[in-house]
Amino acid sequence: MSSEKIWKSLVNNKTLDSDQVHAFYTQWAKSYDHDMEEITVIAPKRLSDIIREHFPSNQRSEALVLDVAAGTGRLGPHLAGIGFKHMDAVDYSQPMLDVLEKLDLYNKKICAALGSGRKIPGIEDESYDVVTISGGFCQAHLPIDSLEEVVRVLKPGGYFFNAMTKYYLESVDSLHGLEPLMRQMETDGKWLMRARLVQDHVIGREQGLFHAFQKL
Ligand SMILES: C[S@@+](CC[C@H](N)C(=O)[O-])C[C@H]1O[C@@H](n2cnc3c(N)ncnc32)[C@H](O)[C@@H]1O
Repeated sequence: MSSEKIWKSLVNNKTLDSDQVHAFYTQWAKSYDHDMEEITVIAPKRLSDIIREHFPSNQRSEALVLDVAAGTGRLGPHLAGIGFKHMDAVDYSQPMLDVLEKLDLYNKKICAALGSGRKIPGIEDESYDVVTISGGFCQAHLPIDSLEEVVRVLKPGGYFFNAMTKYYLESVDSLHGLEPLMRQMETDGKWLMRARLVQDHVIGREQGLFHAFQKL
């Protein structure tokens, strides 16, 4: 089966649960980067372009970044390429983090699951200038309440950037509430939306959806 078919059989399987996704990444970690290249998933590059537009260039070298659901760290080289020097990663798959470790770009590599009110171990409130999620919102991946943890760890004035496949908002039941929750958090005064963009051909032939929020 092609990489794209394997990926689609994963993300379009409505019966998939979190334990199965976790087990899938254990098997997939070593060939994940190769498969993402083959499917031409360019979301990390596009996300870094959006970060470059929104986060001041003169603050990047000192800024602390937390890459959530970082996986093998595909976003890391793009963040480094636009001037970020202090990056931590959190992901619940140790085999994915073992691949990320080899990049030698991230400082802390935290193996932990987000969602259902869990706090990332060892991370104080308001620690980060930037939090990123690239490809974390999929079928049975990050629960949408992970956004509460994003807000907790962001410094006031800090930015959250998200990249995902657009059609998951409709096709993945648990993601129907993602943008309503983002808007509710804006109404509640937690953050302000700075950008919402849709771009073609970001995940193979699929459209990518990007969000930028600034914490109040
Ligand atoms: C599609 S990959 C994206 C990886 C990377 N950010 C990228 O751009 O290639 C999704 C990642 O989310 C992680 N993940 C899924 N659910 C998670 C959860 N509840 N908590 C932490 N990590 C999770 C998986 O282990 C996997 O590494």
